Amino acid sequence: MGIFLAVANRKGGVGKSTISVMLAHAFAVWGNKRVLLVDLDAQSNSSLILQGGAGWIEAQKTSRNIAAYIEDKMYAIDQIKIRDYLVHFVGDIAMPDGRKPALSLLPGSLRFEDMQDELITYYSRGTVPFAQAKLRCASHFRQALQFAGPLADVVILDCAPGLSHATSAALALADRVVVPFRPDAVSEFAVDRIAQIIEGKKFDDLIDMDRERRRYVCLANYVRPGGRDQSYIDTISFNHPTLATRLPLNADVANAFDWSEERQTIEEKYAGAIGGLRALYDEIAPLAVKR
Ligand SMILES: Nc1ncnc2c1ncn2[C@@H]1O[C@H](COP(=O)(O)OP(=O)(O)OP(=O)(O)O)[C@@H](O)[C@H]1O
Ligand SMILES: [Mg+2]
Repeated sequence: MGIFLAVANRKGGVGKSTISVMLAHAFAVWGNKRVLLVDLDAQSNSSLILQGGAGWIEAQKTSRNIAAYIEDKMYAIDQIKIRDYLVHFVGDIAMPDGRKPALSLLPGSLRFEDMQDELITYYSRGTVPFAQAKLRCASHFRQALQFAGPLADVVILDCAPGLSHATSAALALADRVVVPFRPDAVSEFAVDRIAQIIEGKKFDDLIDMDRERRRYVCLANYVRPGGRDQSYIDTISFNHPTLATRLPLNADVANAFDWSEERQTIEEKYAGAIGGLRALYDEIAPLAVKR
């Protein structure tokens, strides 16, 4: 059974998809692991990074995507198998010996948001109270995602911003949650909120909890040299477990967003950002264990 690693923050644009893909590449190439990335965001950014526009459109046409899987599972729960919705050997990097890494994707879908509304309507049918329908919907997602466990050593869940049913299910299922944040004046509130949701505790109880027992760990991204960013990072790490690795604001991280037709080595793809990725992987790999 693989471990579930969610990358989440309710705040948008903090680097969730970028970091999900970086970790997927690192576990597949350096860790020699079978990796499955599940794209839980209708924007489908991590799918576009891993398969390019044409590959992603093909996955929509052939119903290999998260919306098709969750929806089909709603109507025929036992017959539907997650493996029939995956795309294999995605990404634009190669192993050092030229092989394709064992990296699979459950692609995102633009239909995913509407589909979540459909799911709530489905579970609210008859006289079911809304709160109960929401619980059933969350459990539908959790069960559906759980089936990914046996298919990979590491299942990375790239969450959408906000708090959808899918994100709630991912947070409930995850053995470990990476919470990327920007060192700025508004991040503290977002990190405080998601940490409480992940641990299911009020803030004061969360702070009393041992850091080692918390499932989440924060990661500063877009870090610029200078005191201001450092003071925002210090504020967050005062209350929350935070990786020593910080990802700098770096054009090579931004460029890695672009999918290339030609496979390249991980070092070529990440260029000047490779040191940051190596440090991130070395720190995350020992934390990526079953809880
Ligand atoms: N360390 C970095 N340096 C430079 N650019 C970065 C860095 N991290 C991410 N980016 C860029 O920032 C943008 C937003 O990143 P990304 O899409 O990964 O964030 P996100 O949290 O997934 O966003 P959303 O909430 O919309 O899903 C992208 O263009 C990405 O290339
Ligand atoms: Mg994203």
